[in-house]
Amino acid sequence: MSENQTAKIIIEGKEHEYPVMIGSENEKAIDLRQFRKETGYITFDDGYGNTGSCLSNITFIDGEKGILRYRGIPIEQLAEKSSFLCAAYLIIYGKLPNETDLNEFRKKVAKKAHLHVDFKHHFEGFPKAAHPMAVLSSMLNSLGSYYPHMSTNNREQDLEQFDETAALLISKVRTIAAATYRMNMGLPFIYPRKDLRYVENFLHMMFTEPYEQYIAPKEVSDALDLFFLLHADHEQNCSTSTVRMVASSGANLFASVSAGVSALWGPLHGGANAAVVKMLQEIHDSGDDGSRYIRAAKDGKARLMGFGHRVYKNYDPRATIFGQAAERVLKALGREDPLLDIAHHLEQAALSDDYFIQRKLYPNVDFYSGIVLKAIGIPVEMFTVMFAIGRMPGWIANWKEMAETSTKIHRPRQVYTGPTISDYTPIEERK
Ligand code: ACO
Repeated sequence: MSENQTAKIIIEGKEHEYPVMIGSENEKAIDLRQFRKETGYITFDDGYGNTGSCLSNITFIDGEKGILRYRGIPIEQLAEKSSFLCAAYLIIYGKLPNETDLNEFRKKVAKKAHLHVDFKHHFEGFPKAAHPMAVLSSMLNSLGSYYPHMSTNNREQDLEQFDETAALLISKVRTIAAATYRMNMGLPFIYPRKDLRYVENFLHMMFTEPYEQYIAPKEVSDALDLFFLLHADHEQNCSTSTVRMVASSGANLFASVSAGVSALWGPLHGGANAAVVKMLQEIHDSGDDGSRYIRAAKDGKARLMGFGHRVYKNYDPRATIFGQAAERVLKALGREDPLLDIAHHLEQAALSDDYFIQRKLYPNVDFYSGIVLKAIGIPVEMFTVMFAIGRMPGWIANWKEMAETSTKIHRPRQVYTGPTISDYTPIEERK
């Protein structure tokens, strides 16, 4: 972090000087922490596109070059060589685990997969058709009440329990997700098994029947492990900044990640993976090959879901990895999906179209991930829940970083545009 340069801002004829900050990857920022105090002005940045809300050493993205690294390690290397739990450890603890660390972490996660028996009542309180994201968000917050010593809202005490809480959340988010699916389908809950690895255990809780054990084909568990790994962190996106926002008030980890789930739900964020498959299905059912849809997107009548990104102005590297994974998994399972052909056509058409070129709109992680999830048997309503399971390590790491390094509550300002002072009118005089 170099602070030798400064930036000058002239307001009402008066010059103000502010330090320039330079991150380890040469990311430049003007440190405006004293700006309002000195000038009385605030900066206006609707959507925070130009605002650095924190210092972080977890994940680096260069959106212009299409680079994503967890703790300095390129996503391509992790996708090829790592597993989800290994990447989760890296993201949370800042270094790759050695064999002993990884085994212990795995055991800790495996041990915490069961839900308290009273938890069943929470599921029973939801309508059968409740959206799995609504259930997940509520359940994660409720979970904290079963572990009051881990959810004290006292930073020091919550940090003392951090290792246990982190493993518990990574483990139980998967059990809750599977139980929600079973509830939606009117199927009995399936208990976790200690002998199965993370992804296999999840698929077992989803698809085993009391009369028939589900055994995940390797291609399926590999594809899902890759899905989780590619979603594990993505710096200050909408849900992660929500987690940090909530954490800034001193709220515990359960409450913070529960808010992250709610932020993730929207179609402009984690909800996009489901929206992509719905879009592809609609295109298919209408007999279009994608050309009509592209025209509608250019006319502002539709949005090409799975395209565009606030940060990436180049290929999202995760989309490249997933495009290949989609081909691989469909081939291995001996399946064909007409939606994959439509996706290819949309991608080619959009990449050679001026509208998309000028706006630097490229496929994002969600463009192919839905096709992979569909191929491995995950229902569309569960897609965003899958994203939430994958993102859990990133939320946890950001909560930890926030809790360890910052004591400042997040509290943006606004530019007020409402009425100026006016007197209260008694009801009988109102028009
Ligand atoms: N289809 C068609 N046009 C688009 C798209 C799209 N998917 N995305 C952006 N544009 C156009 C906008 O209409 C706008 O055009 P204009 O300049 O003529 O008005 C221009 O590109 C800039 O778009 P913004 O919405 O201002 O870009 P922003 O950075 O705010 O939005 C976002 C990024 C939300 C991801 C957007 O590209 C989008 O809605 N994409 C589709 C949804 C999606 O795939 N979301 C997943 C994101 S990745 C994730 O969260 C995991």
